[in-house]
Amino acid sequence: MAESHVPVLLAPLLRAVAPVSGVWLDGTFGAGGYSRGLLEAGADRVIGVDRDPLVFDMAASWAGEYGDRLRLVEGTFSDLDQLAGESLDGVVLDLGVSSMQLDLAERGFSFLRDGPLDMRMEQAGPSAADLLNTAEEAVIADVLYHYGEERAARRIARAIVAARPLTRTAHLAEVVASCLPRPKPGQSHPATRSFQAIRIWVNDEFRQLVDGLSAAERALKPGGKLAVVSFHSLEDRIVKRFMQARSNSAGGGSRYAPVQETAPPAFTMPFRRAIGPDPEEEAANPRARSALLRVAIRTDAPAGSVEADALAMPRLPKGGH
Ligand SMILES: C[S@@+](CC[C@H](N)C(=O)[O-])C[C@H]1O[C@@H](n2cnc3c(N)ncnc32)[C@H](O)[C@@H]1O
Repeated sequence: MAESHVPVLLAPLLRAVAPVSGVWLDGTFGAGGYSRGLLEAGADRVIGVDRDPLVFDMAASWAGEYGDRLRLVEGTFSDLDQLAGESLDGVVLDLGVSSMQLDLAERGFSFLRDGPLDMRMEQAGPSAADLLNTAEEAVIADVLYHYGEERAARRIARAIVAARPLTRTAHLAEVVASCLPRPKPGQSHPATRSFQAIRIWVNDEFRQLVDGLSAAERALKPGGKLAVVSFHSLEDRIVKRFMQARSNSAGGGSRYAPVQETAPPAFTMPFRRAIGPDPEEEAANPRARSALLRVAIRTDAPAGSVEADALAMPRLPKGGH
């Protein structure tokens, strides 16, 4: 989501999944932009799921307008089939943190606003400070490298361990910045990649994504639609590989290799490529530039399973999640 609560890629998403009808699950309710969009576009009902209990307080002022058509459920989208308790005509996921979470300094997601080093979307479990102040240096380096593609991971991990105890986001941002060259004008803040990596670690976001995609496969009816918006290449790669693997369209394979028995595909892919923002959205909202939407349509084949490794899910070599 952008600085304002304008939902990213909502118009392209609604076009890509049209016509909208039946029961949809919005696994990342946030400020409710997608849920409202789906209800206005023709969904009979929407189940809005979020792991952050605060979003439901924010929705209290308007959710009643939709009466029984909008059901709000606290939980993680990795369990979306269980949370729904019924089969679905569509599932949408808009990955990452919301602007509400980023903007509140006390949630500890931001390197621009000093706050406690927290980063827990559901405000339970170990915080970023708990993990950074106790983990081995090598684990922290692996997190920064594998979840943030930070090339200076080892140097930053060493500096974090030397600076313990870390309790504030501004202190962490300063420690990270001290390990990296000063950014040139127009470059992102040097702590961007490290904060992303630590947030993914704290919230186990890649495991959530892999499990959420499988849960959507189990919950969707034949013809049901799955639409996922991601913000960085590691997330998008998991979504792309999942959709390719489950639609048997991964390609590759040698013509000399023995023919493999393949299960019937659980999805089809209506678009060959990921969908980005319209030019107007890109101009109005610079954050939308890195957003990518992928869509798949459920077949009537039985739901199967997929190994996290086949999806190139980044994993920590040593411990951690
Ligand atoms: C980018 S915002 C979604 C914004 C929403 N599409 C809108 O229009 O307002 C992401 C939201 O998903 C929630 N979230 C992230 N990962 C989640 C997960 N695994 N399960 C449930 N909610 C999750 C976050 O707490 C946040 O509120």
